[in-house]
Amino acid sequence: MSNSQANIGVIGMAVMGSNLARNLASREGNTVAIYNRSAEKTRAVAAEFPDAGFVASETIEDFAASLQKPRTAIIMVQAGRATDAVINQLVEVFEPGDIIVDGGNALFTDTIRREKAVRETGINFVGAGISGGEEGALLGPSIMPGGSASAWETLGPILRSIAAVVDGRPCVTHVGTDGAGHFVKMIHNGIEYADMQLIAEAYDLIRRGTGKSPAEIADIFAEWNTGELESYLIEITAEVLRQTDAATGAPLVDVILDQAGAKGTGAWTVQTALDLGIPVSGIAEAVFARSLSSKPAQRAAASALPGPDGDFTVADVDAFVEDVRLALYASKIIAYSQGFDAIVAGAEEYNWDIKKGDIAAIWRGGCIIRAQFLNRITDAYAENPGLVALVTAPYFTDAVAGAQSAWRRVVIAAAQAGIPSPAFSSSLAYYDGLRADRLPAALVQGQRDFFGAHTYKRVDRDGTFHTLWSGDRSEIQAVDTH
Ligand SMILES: NC(=O)c1ccc[n+]([C@@H]2O[C@H](COP(=O)([O-])OP(=O)(O)OC[C@H]3O[C@@H](n4cnc5c(N)ncnc54)[C@H](OP(=O)(O)O)[C@@H]3O)[C@@H](O)[C@H]2O)c1
Repeated sequence: MSNSQANIGVIGMAVMGSNLARNLASREGNTVAIYNRSAEKTRAVAAEFPDAGFVASETIEDFAASLQKPRTAIIMVQAGRATDAVINQLVEVFEPGDIIVDGGNALFTDTIRREKAVRETGINFVGAGISGGEEGALLGPSIMPGGSASAWETLGPILRSIAAVVDGRPCVTHVGTDGAGHFVKMIHNGIEYADMQLIAEAYDLIRRGTGKSPAEIADIFAEWNTGELESYLIEITAEVLRQTDAATGAPLVDVILDQAGAKGTGAWTVQTALDLGIPVSGIAEAVFARSLSSKPAQRAAASALPGPDGDFTVADVDAFVEDVRLALYASKIIAYSQGFDAIVAGAEEYNWDIKKGDIAAIWRGGCIIRAQFLNRITDAYAENPGLVALVTAPYFTDAVAGAQSAWRRVVIAAAQAGIPSPAFSSSLAYYDGLRADRLPAALVQGQRDFFGAHTYKRVDRDGTFHTLWSGDRSEIQAVDTH
């Protein structure tokens, strides 16, 4: 295998890599080289899809030789050590000017580290977030590449050719340098956690408040999917709720164990946001809700704890369902607003020039959080690129203003009924915190000054102050120890 036929290569022939390779092969002008650590998988993929015309290699040397220069290879293997192992192999057989793309779900700080190390060899390294699962990889994902501008020049046309397309625009943009792409993909996944949790809370409230069956609630979600909530996640929620279990005849949702799994990107988002000092409370509650669900021993031990007296039934079913819809919409706006706050903070911390409107635009297709709603975010940043909080954009302010009474009623109903709604209620608390004239943070500052001499600022004059709490309680000018 030495006659350099392929213009792009894919390493890792599990579901994502093989589907991405097939997607690439289906686009005009591409010849795709494939390689996998276990050669039998490479052979199997080549045999199963002869029309793709794959150039299959069984060694990394043959794989490199099968690529035209400058070589471009996309790695689709497990994040972490597997990715490092493949990068190390590629660096041995690639040359300066070649491009290594990591399309896995890498932690962005790993991508920053890898980019720096690979750059020293003269080889380009691009960390690219790819969203859309198996189907997206095959038919058109949303792609969030980082890396250098020069690598993007070569890579851009290839990625544009395989990405999802919305309104004639491919769902891919050069996000920023080094780890920017994986950072934005991480935030995407964090928002996805929040969105899913909010939908789950909406379902739970409607089911327990109205007694409707999952199939009936599926109809409600299908209806919601024709309005401002229109999105992939709402659409698939209807599908899941409508599904009947073949073995028992029960709704499938009733036979699925209620312990939600996680692969870590939601937790990464929250950990990163904590480091950046950005409250992503909706995302955090979604991550914690999955953790709580997956603690069977604690849940069993707590199952006899008292809840409110009496049954929860709503008087006006239609009005309640509409309230829940509005609460879901308002909470979703908060989740996205918090996610974009984290993007802004990350861009500042890591010196990335991230165009927020472009990010919203490339999330409109291919990815799991794809939704009509994202057009509004693009519009909001187009109108005001310096927007300090998405929820303060006129469109979203109006939307929340129209929803907030319903949102409050739903949170009250949930609390009174003892139905957990952590994402609904924390989003509302965040909203009220953000819009408050005065916060009890003033008292917290007083407490901090009392026990730790941490000092405080005053509302009526400049400077930093400390009260002599264990002395005569007079106030002195102090050195800022915030
Ligand atoms: N599944 C999804 O919906 C989805 C969505 C977005 C992103 N992703 C990301 O896409 C990447 C690929 O996902 P996936 O589900 O297709 O596959 P995966 O199960 O994450 O990884 C399996 C692949 O990794 C290879 N591999 C494992 N350890 C290796 C090592 N030490 N050296 C070389 N290769 C090694 C395997 O090769 P062998 O066959 O030799 O074991 C196989 O090709 C991951 O980073 C994942 O997080 C997945």
